[in-house]
Amino acid sequence: MSRFYSPALTRRAFLTSAAAGAVGAMLPVSRQSPAIAAAVREIQLRVAPGRARLLPEPSSEISAWCYNGTAPGPEIRVRQGDRLRVEVENGLAEETTVHWHGVRVPHTMDGVPHLTQKPIGAGERFVYEFDAVDAGTFWYHPHQRSFEQAGRGLYGPLIIEEREPVRVDRDVTWVLGDWRLTKSGAVSEDFGNMHDIHHNGRVGNTVTINGRVPDTFAVRKGERIRLRLINAANARIFSLDVAGHGPVVIALDGQPVTPHMPDGGRVVLGPAMRADLIVDMTGEPGSRVSIIDRFYEGLEYRLVDLAYGDTPLRGRAPDWPMALPTNPLPEPDLKNASRNEIVFNGGMMGEIVAQDMGESMGQGAPGGMMRDMNPMMGGMMRMMNSGPAWFINGVAADEASHDMKPMLTLRRNKSHVIAMTNVTAWHHPIHLHGHSFRVISRNGQPTRHREWQDTVLVSPREKVEIAFVADNPGDWMFHCHVLEHQAGGMMAVFRVA
Ligand code: C2O
Ligand code: CU
Repeated sequence: MSRFYSPALTRRAFLTSAAAGAVGAMLPVSRQSPAIAAAVREIQLRVAPGRARLLPEPSSEISAWCYNGTAPGPEIRVRQGDRLRVEVENGLAEETTVHWHGVRVPHTMDGVPHLTQKPIGAGERFVYEFDAVDAGTFWYHPHQRSFEQAGRGLYGPLIIEEREPVRVDRDVTWVLGDWRLTKSGAVSEDFGNMHDIHHNGRVGNTVTINGRVPDTFAVRKGERIRLRLINAANARIFSLDVAGHGPVVIALDGQPVTPHMPDGGRVVLGPAMRADLIVDMTGEPGSRVSIIDRFYEGLEYRLVDLAYGDTPLRGRAPDWPMALPTNPLPEPDLKNASRNEIVFNGGMMGEIVAQDMGESMGQGAPGGMMRDMNPMMGGMMRMMNSGPAWFINGVAADEASHDMKPMLTLRRNKSHVIAMTNVTAWHHPIHLHGHSFRVISRNGQPTRHREWQDTVLVSPREKVEIAFVADNPGDWMFHCHVLEHQAGGMMAVFRVA
């Protein structure tokens, strides 16, 4: 019960103009009273237009939307069991919300406009308050017109540290961003265009790590790094090849998994997905090793180089244990689970697909810069200019209003299997709010690791089964995290009651 305790204090607050003046700062606050067991972390987030420097000078800064003046926003880092109190001030000229992606928060703190809260109007404030129940790598972003708000830079990392983390030399977060820039270097204004909505979403032409087009990342031989990858792109899928460095996956979507090498040595991340890796730096001093993104065939590019310094840290990789402590997730009981079928359809189909993907993706180039593109080219795309693009069990949702009748009602504290079939020609990263689920099978084959995820990448024509205990009461979003697919109707609500 207490895990989803809903704060009575939420609406109180912000009372003082002194507090209002303190925006832009992150203020860790020591415990307020000895009666409160967990530390309360007070954080201020101001959402506003700002500037971002994606490339070093002499390139200029671009206009972006920022949390506390930066894109991505500040890394929020707390310890498992802490309580977060985040005061959001909206300095945009439009409504926003903040969704704590993957964190099992109480319903009223989930940041979904209309469904869980009134959107935060221009100039307004809202306080989010919740416990960090699970340790892991999470992130935050708006849920209001997110295809534009996130596409302009509104997202940030939320790291919840284990009480006893695994031993590493360095704990590093990489927020992977994907920007669509015009020839003049500004953010392309073609948000939510029909071509993106009906195809693979707003795949950009400029990939960033922590808001910068990366060049090199300095490492030392023998060093062990915990690399927390967060795919914050609207639509881009990554398949990272860390050339012979045998990354070991220790967590997916924040949740611990049996440490293992990913298939083919590649770390595949759809939008919103995260992976925690242990990477042992086994290269020679002075050498360089490229990390290549190989997801889109024919469009491979070098994401960044690991640049080895001249002095090794140690002679060879340490043999420290890698397994993370488990999180308090309820185990689904598959024998007694109820079963629900979900079918995704819609989008452009058939032979135009391959040709068209090449058109909208641009060509690979060093540093993640790709040639400029015009997503509206190809007059045939104009034909499908209105109406919903994507359907879940035949229903397309209205993104603007988030006005949805529950598609499923799941009995609280019971186990549920959701069998999802993707009959479209496209990949969809499917996200459920308020819960983590086990991915139990793909195309009828049991998964090797029964991984816990909050977002599962479903390939074209694939069938994926997930299972979980519906222990968090409320109406929860279930949607594709290609933000243009979401805008095109690919979302639904599951009621847990
Ligand atoms: Cu990352 Cu419904 O969102
Ligand atoms: Cu999708």
